[in-house]
Amino acid sequence: MNTNCSRTGITPLLLRTMTVIAIVTLTTFSTVMAQKFKGLAETPPMGWNSWNKFGPNVNEQMIREMADAMVTSGMKAAGYEYINIDDTWEGERDSLGFIHPDSARFPHGMKALADYVHSKGLKLGIYSDCGYRTCAGRIASRGHEFQDALSFAKWGIDYLKYDWCNTEGLNPVGAYTTMRDALHAAGRPIVFSICEWGTNKPWLWAGEVGNLWRTTEDISANFEKNIDHGTWIQLSVMSILDLQNGLRKYAGPGHWNDPDMLEVGNGMSTSEDRAHFSMWCMLAAPLIAGNDLRDMSPETKAILENKGAIAVDQDSLGIEGFKYSARDSVEVWFKPLEKGDWAMCFLNRSVTPKKIAFDFNHESVSDSLSGRVANFGKRVYMIHDIWSSKEMGTTREPLRAVVPGHDVLMLRLTSM
Ligand code: GLA
Repeated sequence: MNTNCSRTGITPLLLRTMTVIAIVTLTTFSTVMAQKFKGLAETPPMGWNSWNKFGPNVNEQMIREMADAMVTSGMKAAGYEYINIDDTWEGERDSLGFIHPDSARFPHGMKALADYVHSKGLKLGIYSDCGYRTCAGRIASRGHEFQDALSFAKWGIDYLKYDWCNTEGLNPVGAYTTMRDALHAAGRPIVFSICEWGTNKPWLWAGEVGNLWRTTEDISANFEKNIDHGTWIQLSVMSILDLQNGLRKYAGPGHWNDPDMLEVGNGMSTSEDRAHFSMWCMLAAPLIAGNDLRDMSPETKAILENKGAIAVDQDSLGIEGFKYSARDSVEVWFKPLEKGDWAMCFLNRSVTPKKIAFDFNHESVSDSLSGRVANFGKRVYMIHDIWSSKEMGTTREPLRAVVPGHDVLMLRLTSM
C-alpha cells in the first residue's frame, strides 16, 4: 500500500484527505438528491382509512363502495380526498420479489382499484411496514423498499401509511428515510405517512422525511378511558389530546403532527364525537375518517362535513392551536387563522354542563410561535358559533354560555 502510494506520488496523508473529500462529496450529493416530494399535503390530508372500523377485514368491493359513498355522502364535496387501505391487503411476493395484493380480497389487483378511485375524482392510499411483517402479520417492505415503492407508483397509489411493527434493531430515521428515497426514486408523488407512534420522537426528524407522523399509540373510540391490551395501550381521545403538548412548533404545511385517525361515528356520543372532531381541527390534524361512510347517521355526517370546523383545520397558515387556559374542567384553546381571524374552542372535559364566561377585554391572547396577538382591547372581532352556525355578537361584550358535558363551544372570531 505504502509502496504503491509512493510510486504514484500519493502519500498516505493525501490518500486519507482524498477519501474524506470523496465521502463528504458523495454524502452531500446524495443528501441533495434524496428528498421528499415538494408541494404535497400543504394543508392536513383529508380522507378515510379502513382500520378503525374494519380492522383486518378489507377487500376490493368494500373499498369501491367507500369511494362511491365518499362522493354520494357529500364527504368529497366537504374536502375529503384519500381512500386509504390499511393493513391486510397484502398477498405474497413473486419469484422476482415483487409484492402482490391478496388475490382473494383484491381479485382485480390494485391498478384497477386505483383507476376506479381516480375515476371518482379521489385518490388511493395503501399501507406497509418497515419490518419484514406488518402489525397484522402480513408481508411488509423491509429489504424490498425500492421494489415496493415502484409497485405502488405503477399501481397509481397516492398515499402510503408506513408502520413500525416488527422492527427490533432497526434505526427509525434510516428505515423511514429509505422508504422516502424509494418513493422519490419511483417518481410518483405519494404522501408519506409515518406511523411509528411517537416512539422515537418523529417530530424531531420526520419533517424532511414524511408529510405527517403519528405522535402516539393507536386511538380508540373512547373519550376518556384508555384500553390496556397488555402489551400495548389503545388511547382515549383526551389522552391523545394531552400528549400533543409541546409538539405544535414542529408542524406546518407539508409536515403535520398526526394524533391518529378519527373515531367519529364509531360509538362515542354525538357530543364526544363533536368535541373530538373540533379538537382535531384546532390541532390542524389530518382528518382521516375511520367510520363506515356507507352508513352514516345524520349526526355523524353533520360533524364530519361541518364547513366551519373543516376551514379551521385546513386554514392556509397551517398553525396548530394551543391551550390558553384550563379551569374547572374547561379548557380554552386558540388557533391563529388567515386574515387575522382566530378559532377559539371551549372544551368541557367533565360530564356535567359548565357555565362559561369569557370577558375578552380582560384577556390577552398572544402566540409567540406565530407572533400573533389578539388584542381585544384594541381590536373588535365578530363571534360566529361554528356548530350552531349562529352569530354571537362581538368581543366588546363578555361571552356567556353553557357547554354540555364532553362537548365544545367552537367559535370563529373575525376581525371587524
Ligand atoms: C398499527 C397502526 C394502526 C393500524 C394497525 C394495522 O397498530 O398504528 O393504525 O395501521 O397497525 O395493523
